[in-house]
Amino acid sequence: MKDKIKSFVEEISSFKSDDSGKIEAFRIKFLGKKGAVADLFNDFKSVAKEDRKEIGIALNDLKNKAKEKIENLKSSSLPDKKASDKKEDFTMPGYPNELGSRHPLSIVRKQIIDIFSRMGFTLSYGPEIEDDWHNFSALNFPEEHPARDMQDTFFIENKPGATPEEQIALRTHTSSVQVRVMENSEPPLRTISPGRVFRNEAISARAHCIFHQVEGLYINKDVSFADLKQTLLHFSREMFGADTKIRFRPSYFPFTEPSAEMDISCNICGGKGCNICKYSGWVEILGCGMIDPNVLGNNNIDSKKYTGFAFGMGIERITMLKYQIDDLRLFFENDARFLDQFKAAR
Ligand code: DAH
Repeated sequence: MKDKIKSFVEEISSFKSDDSGKIEAFRIKFLGKKGAVADLFNDFKSVAKEDRKEIGIALNDLKNKAKEKIENLKSSSLPDKKASDKKEDFTMPGYPNELGSRHPLSIVRKQIIDIFSRMGFTLSYGPEIEDDWHNFSALNFPEEHPARDMQDTFFIENKPGATPEEQIALRTHTSSVQVRVMENSEPPLRTISPGRVFRNEAISARAHCIFHQVEGLYINKDVSFADLKQTLLHFSREMFGADTKIRFRPSYFPFTEPSAEMDISCNICGGKGCNICKYSGWVEILGCGMIDPNVLGNNNIDSKKYTGFAFGMGIERITMLKYQIDDLRLFFENDARFLDQFKAAR
């Protein structure tokens, strides 16, 4: 029996395998219910008394060695085996990180800001929840002007006892920021104000109840309509290309006098006529004018000393023209197939 134990110990210590099937067969051979170790323990009953101690120790030692060997084989061979099964190729290039794209409105807003920054315009911001004074009254809106109507403006419930000028609403245009700039600083002023505006309009391909504008304001001594024209011509050429032409059509805004709407030569057909410009060769991009002396006066700016111009444009409109997008709702749907197209424009 001693010899048997000795030869098993040798067999166990020399056994090597990284194959899980062979390791399991090895376990069964030695530690299985009818395995070698169990057989020896059976035979142990017939061992002579004087040999029992020595053989008992050797037998337990054999059992422990077998267990230890199997544990070692399992823990060291299995992970290695997994790695070799997968056959990793460490020379393969890594998976690229999918970067998102900027929203087209953000791209165009940044371009507008960059162009005016280069002309010395600063950036100013105002609140989206605005009072009647900043959104309407200070801008010379007559009491009965339709823009004040519930149809257009999202009013917010007022504090009891609020005066008409304290009425709270979501701003309907960024022109309200003009007022905040004028009341907080002295001319000369040269600033643009990008921001979100809100109007109670049915959502369609051409209109939305939330959209974005950029307001422009320049107040100084001797500012003329020629300055306005040159500023907007430069902007249009930077934005839509060096060949872009502009034209002004007389218009009306309560806060400017004279007022105008400005068209650019259609950037799609170059002025020849297409369905974007409705075959006129021109597309409207903004409203503008010389700041009404009443507005300067409302904000304690001496209109005898200072003149100024203002303009306001819709970022959606400029973006639609720039990228030939024919439905404004696409901007607000977060459809990755639409947004992914602007990756290159980042
Ligand atoms: N606030 C006008 C609008 O929302 C746009 C506008 C027109 C702004 C003329 C101006 C301006 O500053 O001078 O339709």
